[in-house]
Amino acid sequence: MDARITYYLDCVLVLAWSVLLLIVAYGFFDNIVNVSRRSQYKFDSGRTDFRLYCLNVSDVSASTPSGGGAKGGRSTALAGPSSRRSLVTPPADGDDDDLAQARRGSSADSRNGLGLVGLRNIGNTCFMNSVLQCLSNTKVLLDYIRNESYQKDVNNTTSSMKGALIKAFSELIKELWGSDTSGPVNTAALKAQIQRFAPRFMGYAQQDAQEFLRYLLEGLHEEVNRVTSKPKPITTDIDDNLSDAEKANEAWRRYLRAEDSFIVDMFVGQLKSTLKCTHCGHCSVTFDPFWDLSLPLPSGRHTTSVRLAHCLDAFTKEETLDGDEKPKCAKCKERRRCTKSFSIQKFPQVLVIHLKRFSPLERYRGKLNTLVEFPLEGLDLSQFAAEPQSGPSPRYNLYAVSEHSGTPYSGHYTAHCKNPLDNRWHEYNDSRVSSASGRSAVSPEAYVLFYEREGGTTQKSRL
Ligand SMILES: *[C@@H]1O[C@H](CO)[C@@H](O)[C@H](O)[C@H]1NC(C)=O
Ligand SMILES: *[C@@H]1O[C@H](CO)[C@@H](O)[C@H](O)[C@H]1NC(C)=O
Ligand SMILES: *[C@@H]1O[C@H](CO)[C@@H](O)[C@H](O)[C@H]1NC(C)=O
Ligand SMILES: *[C@@H]1O[C@H](CO)[C@@H](O)[C@H](O)[C@H]1NC(C)=O
Ligand SMILES: *[C@@H]1O[C@H](CO)[C@@H](O)[C@H](O)[C@H]1NC(C)=O
Ligand SMILES: *[C@@H]1O[C@H](CO)[C@@H](O)[C@H](O)[C@H]1NC(C)=O
Repeated sequence: MDARITYYLDCVLVLAWSVLLLIVAYGFFDNIVNVSRRSQYKFDSGRTDFRLYCLNVSDVSASTPSGGGAKGGRSTALAGPSSRRSLVTPPADGDDDDLAQARRGSSADSRNGLGLVGLRNIGNTCFMNSVLQCLSNTKVLLDYIRNESYQKDVNNTTSSMKGALIKAFSELIKELWGSDTSGPVNTAALKAQIQRFAPRFMGYAQQDAQEFLRYLLEGLHEEVNRVTSKPKPITTDIDDNLSDAEKANEAWRRYLRAEDSFIVDMFVGQLKSTLKCTHCGHCSVTFDPFWDLSLPLPSGRHTTSVRLAHCLDAFTKEETLDGDEKPKCAKCKERRRCTKSFSIQKFPQVLVIHLKRFSPLERYRGKLNTLVEFPLEGLDLSQFAAEPQSGPSPRYNLYAVSEHSGTPYSGHYTAHCKNPLDNRWHEYNDSRVSSASGRSAVSPEAYVLFYEREGGTTQKSRL
């Protein structure tokens, strides 16, 4: 009899334990399933060697608004907007401290509607996050997206991306600036479109922020290009009898025949290059559009700091082309030693300056950590102008910096941006946004600088 009761009691106990275990296991398992479901979504293409990042189950539970434990974790994962508080915070690029990173989670802040929202790192995408925050704080572009005026420029039959790229971009921007956005925003949808446009951005390898910026701007430009059927390019040389200014106009007109958009109006300038024959003194000039200026940094071992003006000097100063590089002089009709120099013919509304910290040859070998001292306000480029400027002098104010820290092998990108609404500076580090000072943007990490021209945004690029 006694033994029987004990037996029944044991059975009940075992049953109770099993149920308890099942509940716990269910909750736990559920989160894992959710994570891998989400991960599959995020890591849908490219590499297969991704790691599944550790998650802290209590983090998951804590992130449910109702505090409903593990089960609540599931509903957040599948729910709409509230699921933005990340279940898994992916790795900091090149940072082995993944668990710590995941634990810190997102610092969702309540400053909604001001664009002060982080971007989720979906696997080495800090280069993209950094650039996107810089663009998000580019006032003219922000307005163009938010006031929907880009819509009428999209020709969804002629653009190679059929409008899908700018649509994804605008959705991201609107989410960043939305008044009901609370957590870091996911970039997966935009990334999917970008890699369709430029397959090199497939996968989850670290990429160069400046290259990414170029591709993205070019892609956005294509979407809103006013030229819907490309005319045959004009291959004849520009009449050499024209004045330099007339040549510049003609070159720009030819460019706009094929590439003409709001993006071009804002970001593209024109560079003049002058080739001077050392034998006969003949100068030949060419004019090319530029999306950014790539400035060399002095590479001397002992140079620790340099002024931006010196980099611009180095960029525009005459260099001699000799030996194998000797070009053919148009007048002598022979290959001659020549000097070559650059100057700025047309100043863009938004000036992007790329500091060449990674030399093309040493790309994977070294990085220059020189501190470039650049002004936050009143960068005057008059002395680099190809011709005396008729209007106001080309003065620029800084509003964003894309930064690279660490080595070329294991680096991390962040950004400093000045909010176009309240003019305050913030630091953007993937999902984290924190206030900062403008001065702190001037650091050896500064990599791509965004300047806006003083004096309004109404200038049209048409000459
Ligand atoms: C999980 O998160 C909780 C609350 O954030 C923290 O107290 C705990 O130490 C974390 N556990 C691990 C293993 O990271
Ligand atoms: C939208 O913003 C752009 C960029 O600032 C501006 O050029 C355009 O006039 C605006 N359109 C409307 C309808 O407000
Ligand atoms: C293309 O644009 C037209 C009107 O502008 C719109 O009705 C149509 O749905 C768009 N197509 C796609 C595939 O977006
Ligand atoms: C798109 O471009 C095509 C080809 O030039 C043109 O026929 C069509 O009208 C354009 N559509 C829109 C909505 O601008
Ligand atoms: C340039 O001017 C010279 C002399 O005035 C003339 O002979 C030549 O035909 C002109 N070239 C062109 C392309 O108009
Ligand atoms: C960005 O955040 C990571 C993770 O918290 C941190 O290790 C890193 O130092 C931060 N980088 C900068 C430049 O603030």
